[in-house]
Amino acid sequence: MEKIRLGLIGCGGRAKSHMNSFLNMDDVTVVAVADPKEDRRNEAAEKFGCTRIYKDHRELFAAESKETVDALVIAVEPTAHTDIEETAIALGIPFLVEKPMTLDLEQAERIAAGVKEKNLITCVGFQDRYLDLMETVKDELSKHKKGGLVYGAWVGGIPGVWWWQKKADCGGQLVEQNIHLLDGLRWLYGEPLSVYATSSRGIVQAGVDASPEYDTDDHSTAVFRFENNVTATLVSGCYSKKVRPRCGLYITLDDMVIDYRLRNNLIITTAQGSTDTPRKVDQTYLLDRAYIDAIKTGDRSLIRSDYEDALKSLKVCFAANRSMETGEVIYFNK
Ligand SMILES: NC(=O)c1ccc[n+]([C@@H]2O[C@H](COP(=O)([O-])OP(=O)(O)OC[C@H]3O[C@@H](n4cnc5c(N)ncnc54)[C@H](O)[C@@H]3O)[C@@H](O)[C@H]2O)c1
Repeated sequence: MEKIRLGLIGCGGRAKSHMNSFLNMDDVTVVAVADPKEDRRNEAAEKFGCTRIYKDHRELFAAESKETVDALVIAVEPTAHTDIEETAIALGIPFLVEKPMTLDLEQAERIAAGVKEKNLITCVGFQDRYLDLMETVKDELSKHKKGGLVYGAWVGGIPGVWWWQKKADCGGQLVEQNIHLLDGLRWLYGEPLSVYATSSRGIVQAGVDASPEYDTDDHSTAVFRFENNVTATLVSGCYSKKVRPRCGLYITLDDMVIDYRLRNNLIITTAQGSTDTPRKVDQTYLLDRAYIDAIKTGDRSLIRSDYEDALKSLKVCFAANRSMETGEVIYFNK
């Protein structure tokens, strides 16, 4: 069997999850890796017996082409995208890129246009779209024509990566982390009509509870209006150190409550009683499998979030950030 030959750009925390998927696939091999961090690129190469090891994406692109690499996986920090995707587009190499795909909207628009022009296969790392639990939620909602209220939460501590401490480096928690639940809302309800958001600082003390340069919001609240009488509130918080508050989506319908507990289980309650279903799949594996199968077969319908669609989630999160700054409601498509 011909194996799909992958190139990895970025060999950090998230890339490890993708590597675990590929190590469990007989029809995939990693042939090229790049990361400025020597230990990371060497560790990644060792896992796959790969000998083409580069210091960064530029070195990789100088040596590789679509004749030597079938597809890329890009998992770098949000401000490190520079010319990575645009070079991949110029070379005609398909890519999976992690969310948030960049913090620069103009760059994202250029990349989306380039992808379209080249008709390139792309995939974005919205793993929750491949979750069995989210499929059940989507299925239930399709049977309920009336809307209702949604409470969404992603509250915890500050992630360990260096680039999370400054809002200019991570984009803020909604853009970097809670974009998963926002994307889930878009997947369930379609495009939002408007957003209003607030944010707050002062709980986390820079240099005490976080690194000295910490300046991101401790928490934010965004209210999204959707069609069909759906209003969703998404709260994000990174100030909670010792306990993990409940995260996920709590959806209240006129005859049902859907309690999606983030990537863990799903409790559905009606007048007849409750069911509690645990997660049964590895959603990152399914995301990676969908990407590989799309590359092998050309069937893009396997990919649940491509660059063009993911850009819509990114734009909504950027709009929420704008609302936090200006105090204004942002209306979409107006
Ligand atoms: N989909 C998900 O569920 C999920 C989960 C975690 C992180 N992420 C996203 O994945 C991305 C990476 O996060 P992470 O936790 O792996 O960060 P990380 O800091 O652990 O890893 C990023 C790596 O990219 C490398 N890098 C930077 N510039 C590079 C370049 N030009 N060429 C090659 N390598 C380069 C860095 O040296 C680093 O090793 C972020 O956008 C993050 O939001 C997604």
